[in-house]
Amino acid sequence: MMISDSKNDMPKHLAIIMDGNGRWAEKKGKNRIQGHSHGVKAVQKVVEEAVQLNIQYLTLYAFSTENWSRPQEEIGVLMKLLVSTLKSEFQKLLKNRIKLNVIGNMHELPAFVQKELEYVVEHTQDNNEMTLTLALSYGGREELSNVFKQLATKVKNNIISPEKIDQSIINEHLYTQNLPDVDLLIRTSGEKRISNFLLWQIAYAELYFSKVLWPDFTKKHLHKAITSYKKRERRFGKTSKQLLG
Ligand code: FPP
Repeated sequence: MMISDSKNDMPKHLAIIMDGNGRWAEKKGKNRIQGHSHGVKAVQKVVEEAVQLNIQYLTLYAFSTENWSRPQEEIGVLMKLLVSTLKSEFQKLLKNRIKLNVIGNMHELPAFVQKELEYVVEHTQDNNEMTLTLALSYGGREELSNVFKQLATKVKNNIISPEKIDQSIINEHLYTQNLPDVDLLIRTSGEKRISNFLLWQIAYAELYFSKVLWPDFTKKHLHKAITSYKKRERRFGKTSKQLLG
């Protein structure tokens, strides 16, 4: 991929809020479930392309804590779709040396989903080409509440003193403890919201909003987002001049 005028390298950690499956289906006169199946096809293409582009960490928001309030039927289909996708993609994960990782409250997922996830995570854990993280039953505020709880318990039990609590200790208690900060966050479908995704981890992420509905999101759209990212100046609070020095 040729990109001139680059200020940044390829994002190391790309996170995506895959939005718009329902609206895509509605536009096409299909039901929401069909929108999600087409969403899975977009996931497959984006994962393949991320490997080609040497992106090391790809994190996908597949199911939020808030999504539990959707109709039971839709939740059931999403869960089955997830398991069938894990089964059908397993060999491809091995072949491409992709490590599967999950973040979120796994205990809330149905047992058959947990079992399949555990199997794939365990059997791909030595892969090192790319880490593919699925956020499932994930909420950023819930993740942070868990961190506060864990740290408060450690303080109470004299395992850690309050003065020692810093950003790196907080990082170690997040679901994402093994992942670097997000460099680029993409949201599809034209909505410009974070929706409780990776609140801590996106502190310095570049945000990219695409109007494309998730099932229509292709390799070409991914390239466009990365091109935009590469042209941006990431100052992390510094001045442009300081960055040059
Ligand atoms: C958002 O569209 C999408 C979801 C809530 C689910 C995303 C899930 C998939 C793409 C399939 C399963 C994932 C994997 C990794 C196999 P929406 O339903 O909120 O769309 P709308 O806002 O237009 O209604």
